[in-house]
Amino acid sequence: MNEELKAAFEAASQGHVFKWWDELGERQRRRMTRQLEKIDLGRLAEMRAAKEALKQPKQRNLSPAPAFALSDEQFPYALANAARAMVPQGEKELRNGRVAVLLVAGGQGTRLGFDGPKGCYEVLPLSGMTLFEVFARKLRRVGVEYGRTPPLYVMVGNHNEAATRDFFEQHEFFGLNEDDVKFFAQGEMPALDADGKLVMEHKDAPFTGPDGHGGVVQALHDKGMLADMRERGIRVISYIQVDNLQVPVADPAFIGLHLSEGAEVSLKVVRKEDPGERVGIFCHDDGVPCIVEYTEFSDEQANERGDDGRLKYWQGSIAVHLLGVDFLMRLAERGTDLPLHAAHKKVPYVDDQGNEIKPDEPNAWKFERFVFDVIPMASNVVCLEVPREEQFLPLKNADGPFGPEGVRQSYQDYWAKAVEQALGKRPPQIEVDPLVAENARDLIEQLVNSQAAKSWDLAKPLHITKL
Ligand code: UTP
Repeated sequence: MNEELKAAFEAASQGHVFKWWDELGERQRRRMTRQLEKIDLGRLAEMRAAKEALKQPKQRNLSPAPAFALSDEQFPYALANAARAMVPQGEKELRNGRVAVLLVAGGQGTRLGFDGPKGCYEVLPLSGMTLFEVFARKLRRVGVEYGRTPPLYVMVGNHNEAATRDFFEQHEFFGLNEDDVKFFAQGEMPALDADGKLVMEHKDAPFTGPDGHGGVVQALHDKGMLADMRERGIRVISYIQVDNLQVPVADPAFIGLHLSEGAEVSLKVVRKEDPGERVGIFCHDDGVPCIVEYTEFSDEQANERGDDGRLKYWQGSIAVHLLGVDFLMRLAERGTDLPLHAAHKKVPYVDDQGNEIKPDEPNAWKFERFVFDVIPMASNVVCLEVPREEQFLPLKNADGPFGPEGVRQSYQDYWAKAVEQALGKRPPQIEVDPLVAENARDLIEQLVNSQAAKSWDLAKPLHITKL
């Protein structure tokens, strides 16, 4: 027994983790020691505080925050004029190889219930292309357009790191340059039971789970990814999540606007029309830009309308960001942590008799950091409205609008509208290779100039693979 380790856990009132120690074999003891060494007992106070914070909601002093709103809200839409004017600046940044894409894929995908990393889900309606391949092909399209393919940084969790790496290797990195795809694992957090004790999942192992998408800030630094970016001359990180099928990987208008406004963090939002929609809202709290969870809005606030009759708090965050490399480096070097958030969840545990239990009801507290908590720390923040159906289609659930069928339906509705606008008719089913077009506007432009497209049989499913 490592006496020092035992003493540290006992001093932190966590001596129960050794309850089964005498029963364990040598290998189990070594494994458990390694795992316990990874738990930062100094964080227990922070974890307890996060749990307590839920009982006393934070006092907020909310006001709406400025955003660059769409200049055309009708399909195929147009971003704010100010953003479109900055396209050349964003394109230059891409051409100069100063942009990296950061794909966070370390979540557990519990709601989807798919056995494997979510990125391996075969999502496209005709080819069954996986999310990872969709993103790789979007990147390749950017590479063709700007002569440089941004490097791809993929954040994984301990639970899916091997499967994710294998998947990319088996598929030869989907045509990307292997040296330009970097995987790195995020941190883990333990869970606490109702008495503030660490939950043991097995007799020889405490429960730990991924530390949230906000874990990316620490992991980028600790795993040497920020240093790697600096070496490559990267200034801007395009942060996207693995479940958002429609998100552009690197949007020149967004990048140009971020740079021209001297922002350290930027975010994309969609317009919230339904006051009840469960989405975090970009706004000001005491004059500081931040994202506030829908649960923190009173009914009255959520329903408040401006002179134009539209919701006053309309900026629904879609978890798409630009992050400055220097900004993240500064946070890391100062040791600035993002806050911990507690959530009451079902956590597997060993009971007093040593039985392994998978509870049916929430029984313990899990802890995560959220990436949007960098927003109040940035000296300048840009918020850009984007068209919902064009850029926000997350695969979250096993069914419903954000389940596989709902996502495929919305995806096809969007692209079929583009074909209809260009060629006068909607195909019954459609898929567009991400190598071909960035969005409907882009596709329409190519279709109206294409001789070949004029002879397509639009009564049949349409798979657009080249133009
Ligand atoms: P979600 O919050 O939707 O979680 O993640 P999830 O794990 O994918 O799904 P559920 O809640 O278990 O059903 C949004 C994005 O953040 C990433 C996910 O991979 C997804 O891209 N994420 C989430 C991480 O990378 N790490 C985490 O710890 C949590």
